[in-house]
Amino acid sequence: MNPEEARLEIARLSAELERHNQLYYENAQPEISDADYDRMFRDLELLEAAHPDLASPNSPTKRVGGKPIDGFEQREHVVRMLSIDDVFSEGEVHDFFKRMVKNLGETKIPMIIEPKIDGVAVSMIYRNGELEAAVTRGDGTRGDVITENVRTIRGLPLTLGDKAPEVLEIRGEIYMPNEAFAKMNEERDEEGLQTFANPRNATAGTLKLLDSREVAKRPLAFIAHGFGQLEGISFDSFSEFRSYLEELKLPANHPVWLEDNVDGVIKAIRELDIKRHDLEYGTDGAVVKVDSIAAQAQLGATSRAPRWSMAFKYPPEQKETVLHDITIQVGRTGTLTPVAELEPVLVSGTTVRRATLHNQDEIDRKDVRIGDTVVIEKAGEIIPAVVKVVTAKRPADAKPFNLYEYVDGKCPRCNSPIIRPEGFVAWKCENFSCPAQASNRLKQFVSRKALDIDGVGNIVAEKLVERGKVKDILDIFELHVDQLADFNIGTAVEPRMLGEKNGTKIVETARRAREAPLAKWLYGLGIPQVGESAALEASRLVEDIFQIPDSEIIEMVREKGLKDAWVKENPLRSAKTADLSVEEFEARKTKSEEYKRRVKELTEKLAPYEVSPELGGVASASLLGYFRSESGQAMLERMKQMGICPKSTNYLPEPSKAADSGASQVVGKTFVITGTLTAPRNDIKAKIQDAGGKVSGSISSKTDFLLAGEGGGSKRDKAETLGVTIISEEDLEQMLFQE
Ligand code: IVH
Repeated sequence: MNPEEARLEIARLSAELERHNQLYYENAQPEISDADYDRMFRDLELLEAAHPDLASPNSPTKRVGGKPIDGFEQREHVVRMLSIDDVFSEGEVHDFFKRMVKNLGETKIPMIIEPKIDGVAVSMIYRNGELEAAVTRGDGTRGDVITENVRTIRGLPLTLGDKAPEVLEIRGEIYMPNEAFAKMNEERDEEGLQTFANPRNATAGTLKLLDSREVAKRPLAFIAHGFGQLEGISFDSFSEFRSYLEELKLPANHPVWLEDNVDGVIKAIRELDIKRHDLEYGTDGAVVKVDSIAAQAQLGATSRAPRWSMAFKYPPEQKETVLHDITIQVGRTGTLTPVAELEPVLVSGTTVRRATLHNQDEIDRKDVRIGDTVVIEKAGEIIPAVVKVVTAKRPADAKPFNLYEYVDGKCPRCNSPIIRPEGFVAWKCENFSCPAQASNRLKQFVSRKALDIDGVGNIVAEKLVERGKVKDILDIFELHVDQLADFNIGTAVEPRMLGEKNGTKIVETARRAREAPLAKWLYGLGIPQVGESAALEASRLVEDIFQIPDSEIIEMVREKGLKDAWVKENPLRSAKTADLSVEEFEARKTKSEEYKRRVKELTEKLAPYEVSPELGGVASASLLGYFRSESGQAMLERMKQMGICPKSTNYLPEPSKAADSGASQVVGKTFVITGTLTAPRNDIKAKIQDAGGKVSGSISSKTDFLLAGEGGGSKRDKAETLGVTIISEEDLEQMLFQE
């Protein structure tokens, strides 16, 4: 084939394959068999291999993803990506309409009503009909360039044909269809991979992957709902834009209504409420937009959201069902949670069988009895909850429930006595080795935000604990492949082996996890009150995990926080002192003064470390308590023996030492980054953090330096107003080099 023939054939095959992609993914009406499709695909691959210069980055063959990248570039949005103002009642819809009538001076105002898609917002820039870039919303002004990942979405055209204008920026949502999400999660759990909490999280997580070949395996989809920059084309109305989408075969949002009066708008919102549960993605609202583009321009926008649009948020759906029984769940920290076992009922598109009852106090307050008909509610991603009892439907034999009696004062999983700590509403199992606690701790330890040990999903974690393979989280590092290969994750009757492949994966990722940064370890240990940010802040104050129990800084944070809280509680307020004797009152006063003085002293001592409030007194107390406890000490001892020593990757040395080392220019300083830089932002951020600096997203008077690349206008202006030093990349290199 000569080059000209090859060019034509590549174009023909590409167009055909894209057409079949559309038929398959968008219309669910394939015209050819999978085998025929594969054959065409291979023909195109071969031709492109023979004529690499003719292969387009938007060829259908590129939808399988390409080489992994180090990080995402950033790109400025030519037209800002705004938010939408939410409203929660029909009254507010009337208000919105009245505002439009007043501002536009018309009584009839055509408006579009369509579903609000619960996905991840992206902007797709097509230049001369070719997909040039896909960018996340980011901070609204600039976002991450995720083109490689977006290219893998089969239902999204990569080329728009000859009719396309010079620049067409399509905005919309990337989402994961509910069914595909459920299937993917099930498969992941079976393979021992971490599952996602909901389709939105799964979508966001997928789009952040640096390996587009992995993205290609995930079932993502796209729906367009607006436009940004346009060149060589314009629209008079949003309806016209929608017809144009159909013409270009870009997936548009359905169902849609066009109404020009407020009653019509409200009718549409109510109709959508019925239809939305049949949509293949999550929706918790209706978006209403003024149809005329001229009117939109006239109305303009606030700094946050356009004035021509609003999102009506539906109240969480409620359903009645029968509560057959109450069971008890034991959490990671031993908390006993009563769970309602329900007659299955469809709520917001998913079948609900269980709902949380929170604790005994809540059961008493709502007077929930076994056999009652109850109202349950599911709000978005939140776990379904029992809202109230329908007392009129209470059967004569409905049984009141008392948690303590029900479990006979013992943990239902390990039989140790349960207690209700003072000031707590929940009963707790105090046995640290309780299998329920152990498996939930293991789940947290291996989770993505912690040590990210692939291969241990919910099922595997439970079985490992249940069958005694993991008694203590550290046991995970001593598992062997052969031991795991024939490990039964099924039941005795229906055994299912983990297999060698999965076993190897667990052992290998666990080996890598030994080296994970201290912050991830601290979060993974699931110490009460120590979340991700507290863990990160604590890790800044020590060099490695073994320093924590004796850390003077953390001890000071603990003391300061707790004393400060006591003083702030104002124990001298008359309501609290009413019954006190004079001596008692005086003692309290002395204590309060002494505490105030000590807090002041500690504040001064701690000042150079600039400990963020993310690590407060309560978290520090819990952290120290854990590492100083018998089990905490035993764990550290065992880690030492195993040669595991999680190190801080953001350690801030003592300020005095820092000054000596010459690194004082970066240590403890706060940087803000803006504009286009020569390296991915995350890399630069890591460099600064490794040198003991902090990176923040927004400029304030506390900012020390603004690292400004090309562009980055608004932050530059703000830095100038606030008198923040603006530095270049070279300046930063200099500062880092001086160490
Ligand atoms: S139109 C400038 N239509 O919701 C705002 N947005 O909460 C006009 N969203 O950033 C956007 N479904 O990413 C529009 N049918 C829809 C939408 C929708 C979801 C997202 C969008 C926006 C966010 C605001």
